[in-house]
Amino acid sequence: MIRCENVKKRFGDVEVLKGIDLRVEAGEVVVIIGPSGSGKSTFLRCLNYLEKIDNGMVHVNGKLLGKREVGGRLVEDKEKHINKLREDIGMVFQQFNLFPHMTALGNVIEAPVMVKKMSKDQAVKKGLELLDKVGLKEKANEYPNRLSGGQKQRVAIARALAMNPKIMLFDEPTSALDPELVGEVLQVMKQLAKEGMTMVVVTHEMGFAREVADRVIFMDGGYIVEQGPPQEVFTNPQHVRTREFLSHIR
Ligand SMILES: Nc1ncnc2c1ncn2[C@@H]1O[C@H](COP(=O)(O)OP(=O)(O)O)[C@@H](O)[C@H]1O
Ligand SMILES: [Mg+2]
Repeated sequence: MIRCENVKKRFGDVEVLKGIDLRVEAGEVVVIIGPSGSGKSTFLRCLNYLEKIDNGMVHVNGKLLGKREVGGRLVEDKEKHINKLREDIGMVFQQFNLFPHMTALGNVIEAPVMVKKMSKDQAVKKGLELLDKVGLKEKANEYPNRLSGGQKQRVAIARALAMNPKIMLFDEPTSALDPELVGEVLQVMKQLAKEGMTMVVVTHEMGFAREVADRVIFMDGGYIVEQGPPQEVFTNPQHVRTREFLSHIR
């Protein structure tokens, strides 16, 4: 579902991703952990081309992202085509990023109506189903400022799902939440994983990683330092930097 080869990204003089290779199979749940500044968010953003990469290739669902072959040469792809490929990839951010002037339902139906040209009726029907799925049907007509952080994040998940993505990317989805609201968001994510969604999740919720992840990846300094099944990475980390990191967060 995702295939990255030697992905590099620099901001000015600073190389933030130093050659990332990663394959994610359909239905796999991959959790990425690692210290602040190690490039986790940048990497997720490269996966849906919110950041342009400087080197390497990203294939999503078999399709090369950001580049197109013309007469045997690779050229920059057109924004319109990139946006089309992006529809396969839903993203959920730490800060929810809901539209404040739209209700929960308005947020969920915005892209299907505006981008996919779905009829309003159909989008509303689907939007209500998705809000129901995340346990928020009764909040459909509330504005974000009347929702708790956990509710906002569940609306954001429903909004991402409204585009029928094949992959969901989560960037620290529970880090901005009060502790008592973390569980309701993780519960929705667990359900998605159970339904077979392909997921890449940056999180420090180790309980979630142990229970749900097929694979845990430890990133540090722009590299994947170590990866494996959660029980291996957590109980028997091979790399000294992984051990150090884990000792700080437990
Ligand atoms: N748009 C940007 N411009 C310049 N530097 C950036 C930008 N985005 C991220 N960085 C830098 O890239 C490094 C990795 O950041 P990030 O991917 O956010 O790490 P993480 O998510 O692991 O904390 C940091 O040093 C950060 O300051
Ligand atoms: Mg980050």
